[in-house]
Amino acid sequence: MGLDHFPDRSNWHVPDASMKGPFAPNNIETAFEDLEVIGTLPEDLNGMYVRNGPSPAHAPHGKYHWFDGDGMLHAVRFQGGRATYRNRFVETDGLKAERAAGKALWPGLKERMPEGALPDDAMKNVSNTDVTYHNGKLYSMWYRGGAVYTVDPFTLNTLGKLEHDPRLVGLQISAHSRVDESTGEFMFFAYGNRPPYMHYGVIGADGAVTTFQDVPLPGPRLPHDCAVTPHYTILHDFPLINNPSALAAGRYSLEFHQDWPTRYAVIPRHGGKVQWFEFEPRYMLHVANAWEEVNAKGETEIVMIGTPYAMPRDYDGNLDVRRLLFTIGTQGTDYELYQWRMNLATGETREGVVDDILNSEFPMINTAWQGLKNRYTYNVLMGRPRTLEQPQFAGLVKYDLSNGSAVAYHPGEGFWFSEAPFAPRDGATEEDDGYVVGFVWNGLANRSEVWVTDARDIIQGPVARVIMKQRVPHGFHSCWVREAQLQAAAVA
Ligand SMILES: [Fe+2]
Repeated sequence: MGLDHFPDRSNWHVPDASMKGPFAPNNIETAFEDLEVIGTLPEDLNGMYVRNGPSPAHAPHGKYHWFDGDGMLHAVRFQGGRATYRNRFVETDGLKAERAAGKALWPGLKERMPEGALPDDAMKNVSNTDVTYHNGKLYSMWYRGGAVYTVDPFTLNTLGKLEHDPRLVGLQISAHSRVDESTGEFMFFAYGNRPPYMHYGVIGADGAVTTFQDVPLPGPRLPHDCAVTPHYTILHDFPLINNPSALAAGRYSLEFHQDWPTRYAVIPRHGGKVQWFEFEPRYMLHVANAWEEVNAKGETEIVMIGTPYAMPRDYDGNLDVRRLLFTIGTQGTDYELYQWRMNLATGETREGVVDDILNSEFPMINTAWQGLKNRYTYNVLMGRPRTLEQPQFAGLVKYDLSNGSAVAYHPGEGFWFSEAPFAPRDGATEEDDGYVVGFVWNGLANRSEVWVTDARDIIQGPVARVIMKQRVPHGFHSCWVREAQLQAAAVA
């Protein structure tokens, strides 16, 4: 694919700050070998860091929102102390149609939808939100829920949609799913504006759909993530909804119902009866991890850790719903680390704050501990918001869940982090024996870098900084693909 079919952006109208600085699109698809490194890249770091994010390929249809940009995958592969970079658009149906038309065809998040259309129906699945590795392929996913696009992990060429089973066709599959590396299973959920409003499914290591069932909800909801343990999957029903009459008129208007509970569905991994648990009303985007614990009575308790929004209070101590909605609606950053406990035998629940001092999100764990009781989570430290809808990820936080303690690293003004997955050191057996790896926008030098930090010593800062030869726009989620997984994919 040449560079010539990308439009000249010199005359673009820049409708808001989401198109400037670290957020500005960069539509050049390229590859660079043997990148320059400041410091020393560890030779025992082998594998690939992949991150998804928006980069609008065409001038916006109207008002632009950061979330509207076409999905682009950026991959940095580490091999024996060297690093290479490659980026490619996710070739979605929408992007292909817009290329054929030579212009943007779909309205964005800030625009009014066509009369009679439900917003999700009228939006382009830009597949710009998350990326994960399963069954030899990268899966690219969208935050509003839509078809999953499969991508070759070596070329980043889009292979197609994950629709090999008729039950997957037309589903709004969430951006966040979970892979159990010990079984090779991919657990996912889908949601939407039509009954039953949620589905749950499992794709096995061989690609076959092994589990698929309805999870009926009282109405359309806005779940974002899920959690798994070896025997259960946990899905979310928060009291945050789109106002139904606004939705019917083709637009979004968030409502938070403080008199409704947070509800979590615990579903046996391979399907069956859903057990619901109720908690204090909250809203959360991302789960760090979940696991099963057996208490002295032999009862199984599920523990889930995540980063919900902090609940703002007014002078009388009452929930300030307006402020909460403003924070959520403008991608404001005010988060806590929190835990929920669900006793499967008695139905009892417990919940509470793990840390409400540090403000962090985008929790990443050593994925070999997915669904197992783990000790460490690596989060992005949130900076003070400079402007609306421009969250600045200012540093890294490493939590020790065994005692709730944390260490945080912030290099100073001008550096913008990105979600930083954990990369195990070659041959590592202990949970935090490895590195955290993530893009950093270096605003002082006006360039993108990848920072490799020793996971056991994050406050020392990066041990190596890989210099990108072109800017990587600020983006969303990422994953680490282990070298063994890449080798297996190469053979397959
Ligand atoms: Fe997310």
